[in-house]
Amino acid sequence: MTTPTYSPGLEGVTAGETTICTVEGGLSYRGYSVGDLAENCSFDEVAYLLLHGELPTAVQLKQFHTRVAAARRLPPPLKELFAALPKWTTPLDALRTAVSALGHFDQDAADNSHDANLRKAERLLAQIPVAIADNFRLVKGQPEVPARQDLSHAANFLYMLRGIEASPAEVKAMDVSLILYAEHEFNASTFAARVIVSTLSDLHSGITGAIGALKGPLHGGANEKVMDILLAAGGPDKAEEWTRAALTRKERIMGFGHRVYKTGDVRAGILKKYAGSAAEAAGSTKWEETADIIERVMAAEKSMFPNLDWPAGRLYHAMKLEIPLYTPIFAMSRITGWAAHVIEQLDNNRLIRPRAIYTGPAARAVAPIGERG
Ligand code: ACO
Repeated sequence: MTTPTYSPGLEGVTAGETTICTVEGGLSYRGYSVGDLAENCSFDEVAYLLLHGELPTAVQLKQFHTRVAAARRLPPPLKELFAALPKWTTPLDALRTAVSALGHFDQDAADNSHDANLRKAERLLAQIPVAIADNFRLVKGQPEVPARQDLSHAANFLYMLRGIEASPAEVKAMDVSLILYAEHEFNASTFAARVIVSTLSDLHSGITGAIGALKGPLHGGANEKVMDILLAAGGPDKAEEWTRAALTRKERIMGFGHRVYKTGDVRAGILKKYAGSAAEAAGSTKWEETADIIERVMAAEKSMFPNLDWPAGRLYHAMKLEIPLYTPIFAMSRITGWAAHVIEQLDNNRLIRPRAIYTGPAARAVAPIGERG
């Protein structure tokens, strides 16, 4: 047996091939740079690109929209399930449970073919925003807002959440954030989904596991922690002192650093201007100014730069969305990337089963129970 190579956290390890996305030469999805997609496409077009491999024609987009919009509803038992969850359940945990439960009700549940997985992916794309909004309003004691079939993914979500239509500027900012969140190669949650389905498990199991992986603050959970950081920093006057003290205490400044990007995350630069415009529209740039100061200190002291969660947390805060919704919003977009990877894995599957270096006790014999201790 050859000596296994080992890289903690699989850092720098190539663990597979993909046609969906690369971070080489700037982030791109199926050959299109995210900057180009953010400027020229809607999230709905990008969702189609990730799932179906090419940007849609106008006719394909219309058909896709019709299919997805028609699936914007939950089986009634899901609502009973939400009502039965403990009141301290977070929106992200409720979403993970909902996606697992939705697998029971999907008509293609037992079919793992390429076409069935595409149908399931489109349905989950439609159902996830409904699950987030319905559960959120139920917990708040607010009446459910039925989905609108005429609205885009982003616009319908904001409408269901608030009960009123969002402004075009808000829809565009949300749309861009969803485009930037949609896909990112072999990140932790996507890799988790690929590991799960590599056993020939099903799409809903893979997505449920991916949501569990997304939850952690080192990954998707960071966009909620960004606002905790800014609130703790207190404002522009105190931000520099607070950041230096936090670094001295060896605290992590959530929204900074990345396993792959060591000189900056292109997505953060794209979304920053939308976070700034949203703050101006909301009438306060306090958190933008605070963020700029923290960015300067992090660059000077740690040579560390913002990742996408840094402007995303601020954008959603400026849009007056409650903090525990931020990671579910990430999931509402990343479902497209996860599903594309699940389908790619299953189309050319090989069980993902790495090895470990054993560091436990040397071989020994079991002593009779009375002789142990
Ligand atoms: N703030 C302060 N110090 C940091 C940060 C940070 N955000 N990130 C890393 N460091 C420090 C570490 O403490 C470590 O210092 P040390 O060598 O003195 O111990 C050094 O930088 C290297 O850190 P690692 O954790 O080894 O780097 P890794 O590549 O594993 O980390 C990660 C990447 C997990 C994203 C990290 O930068 C981090 O925890 N960031 C904050 C969480 C975050 O924003 N996550 C979102 C990721 S992007 C996304 O999901 C869209």
